Amino acid sequence: MSDDLFHALEYFWHPVATLSELQAAGGVMAARLLGRDLAIAHLGVDPAGVATIGAWVDRCPHRSTRLSVGCVDGQALRCAYHGWRWAPDGRCVEVPSAPGRPVPDRFRQEAFEAVVEHDLVWVRLRGQAHTRIPTMPAATDPTMRLTHGSPYVWPTGATRRVENFVDLAHFAWVHDGTLGDRGHPVPPEVSVRRVAGELRFTFVPPPIAPSGQAALFGDSYYRMPMPLTVNIDFAIAGSPGVRRHLWMTAAPVEQGVCRSYWVIARNDGHDLPDEDFLDFQRLVLDEDEPVVCNQVPAEIPFRGEELHVRADRVSIEYRRWLEELVTAAGAGAEALDVALGSAVPGATAKEEPACAT
Ligand code: FES
Ligand SMILES: [Fe+2]
Repeated sequence: MSDDLFHALEYFWHPVATLSELQAAGGVMAARLLGRDLAIAHLGVDPAGVATIGAWVDRCPHRSTRLSVGCVDGQALRCAYHGWRWAPDGRCVEVPSAPGRPVPDRFRQEAFEAVVEHDLVWVRLRGQAHTRIPTMPAATDPTMRLTHGSPYVWPTGATRRVENFVDLAHFAWVHDGTLGDRGHPVPPEVSVRRVAGELRFTFVPPPIAPSGQAALFGDSYYRMPMPLTVNIDFAIAGSPGVRRHLWMTAAPVEQGVCRSYWVIARNDGHDLPDEDFLDFQRLVLDEDEPVVCNQVPAEIPFRGEELHVRADRVSIEYRRWLEELVTAAGAGAEALDVALGSAVPGATAKEEPACAT
């Protein structure tokens, strides 16, 4: 199943780095996605301000030097060893040791689609399906202040990481006093819906006092752009109109390893230190890590190897759709589009109101 899962995930966009990481690396860096080593390069910005990003298999076809130790040169990546230049579509466009001769068509390296969105560098290994970069609702809301957390790598599969984010029964145990209360171990039943490629549900947590003014806690409206992204819109108790968001996506680096990227947004407390909000979330992550990174196997087993109860409704629905997507991807891009509800190119989700404040 893991191989089938990885095959399906190739159809989707995943972040491989933050834009600032790529810039700090001088515009070229190595990255790893779905078990493949990639070279990523920032090749410039067009007049509309859109970045051109190149993503290739991290190996020069000439003498196998990693392309990621090369440099950017005129909308292409120049290999460090003999200077061959590689365009973002995979063509070799210059061989310095054979000047004046046309570069043969077969001088190519496998290249992938790559773009910048949400200040992250996204790559899609396999096109064809109408998959989209996951939405980040706060990014289009001018009242929201966005704060990026530092990405973190955990030795667990991306689907385990994401499932943990929407596991309502663990709050009482793992986050007792932070997000939950062991005196309230039964989460309320939620209605899980599928809307245009997303799982959605609303969760009302038990009435505990949130720890600190930077807590991300309250009635929670979840949107999960399938398969590896979660956006939680919190209505802060006792503060009508105050919204805080937590957005995350887990990038599948390889079997049993994921790198999570996350953003906090808030329409209140713009004068408060961003670090306070990041610290609250780090506290939550520190509670999760020892549990989630000790799930064995590190990838979700899909075929009845784990037990479920009613309180696991969300993860059951998540797994069910994930499995459907994996099966559909096995049949090809068209079947995957149908399974995602995105069979019509350009189809967009009908927006629903967030949960009541
Ligand atoms: S190894 Fe890349 S140009 Fe020779
Ligand atoms: Fe958690």
